Amino acid sequence: MKTALITGITGQDGSYLAELLLEKGYNVYGIMRRKSVVDYGNVEHIKEKINFIYADMTDPISLINAMKISQADEVYNLAAQSFVATSWEQPLATADIDGIGVTNILEAIRIVKPTARFYQASTSEMFGLVQEMPQTENTPFYPRSPYGVAKVYGHWITKNYRESYNMYACSGILFNHESERRGKEFVTRKITNAVARIKFGLQDCLELGNMDSKRDWGHSQDYVQAMWLMLQQENPDDYVIATNETRTVREFVEKAFYYADIEIEWSGTGIDEVGIDKGTGKTVVKVNPKFFRPAEVEVLLGNPQKAETVLGWRRQIDFNNLVKRMAENDLGLIKNSLNK
Ligand code: NAP
Ligand code: GDD
Repeated sequence: MKTALITGITGQDGSYLAELLLEKGYNVYGIMRRKSVVDYGNVEHIKEKINFIYADMTDPISLINAMKISQADEVYNLAAQSFVATSWEQPLATADIDGIGVTNILEAIRIVKPTARFYQASTSEMFGLVQEMPQTENTPFYPRSPYGVAKVYGHWITKNYRESYNMYACSGILFNHESERRGKEFVTRKITNAVARIKFGLQDCLELGNMDSKRDWGHSQDYVQAMWLMLQQENPDDYVIATNETRTVREFVEKAFYYADIEIEWSGTGIDEVGIDKGTGKTVVKVNPKFFRPAEVEVLLGNPQKAETVLGWRRQIDFNNLVKRMAENDLGLIKNSLNK
């Protein structure tokens, strides 16, 4: 039986990865931050099957301890301050957790069990102001937020430990991936949650920032498969995980309303643009400049060819299915909350 240690186990990806590894017969350890109220987040439903260790990415002692206790064969570093907008409000905390935190966990592995295999959650945000279309493993980085900058450090220190110490350390450069478990501050879940609330009369309007922004969106359940595959190869390497399709935030909005049987008609431009419910004539989408970012990543589009060829990875859930699952899930959650 293999043993895995997951940092960020309470988050979106951590929960799907924990499910996958449990299905494969792994003994799963996860690190958790101490909070005033104990909260298992997205792994509440499987908490009895997981061995939890209290630790924090900014505390190397706690990570050494986590490695000593777990003696993990595979370490998946998913912990991060992962919300780009917050990284301008907390640039140093973001750097500590998402940047230096990677060195902390790599050192813990090197000290306790250097043969352990390591996965680093790198990101398409490192491409930022994109230097070519589509982006591949060889596209130069140009991060556009404190989050992106911290992740570039995490990416390079992972590569550096691989080359310096011959450690089995990989980075997955994952493009946006969403799910029914996505935090409600991220645009996709913000949209599907608002669509459900509007449908059931709990909210009048959805306020968004830059709707022209384009993202390459996949489903988290598909993407955690790629993380696992990266640690099963003969040699460690870095891989882009993406769908090779890009859509605007506006397209996501239209599609989410479609699954709630609401057709959206757009009117106006710039900050005056609105989305109108064709059935009722009511304005249900507005622009609020408060959601604009100091610097924007306008477009992301990833080419997953290397992962498909070398790892045999294929995404199963396409854009329509992703939006459908998220919209139906939120419609169900809101409906149930009203029936209670
Ligand atoms: P998420 O839902 O925000 O989960 C983040 C996790 O990190 C949570 O479990 C959180 O714990 C934990 N965490 C935060 N700060 C920590 C600290 N100081 N010490 C220990 N744990 C800490 O993020 P996700 O969407 O699952 O993403 C997983 C990873 O992939 C992240 O590194 C993210 O940056 C990266 N990534 C995500 C995407 C995407 O589109 N989802 C794309 C590329 C890369 P709490 O529950 O205590 O907050
Ligand atoms: N969150 C949010 N809220 N984003 C909005 C809004 C809004 O009201 N309106 C427009 N957007 C735009 C953002 O400006 C951005 O261009 C896009 O929607 C996506 O924003 P997020 O869903 O917050 O995700 P992200 O792309 O910034 O970051 C996510 O993906 C990265 C991978 O590329 C996160 O999961 C990161 O952790 C991840 O690394």
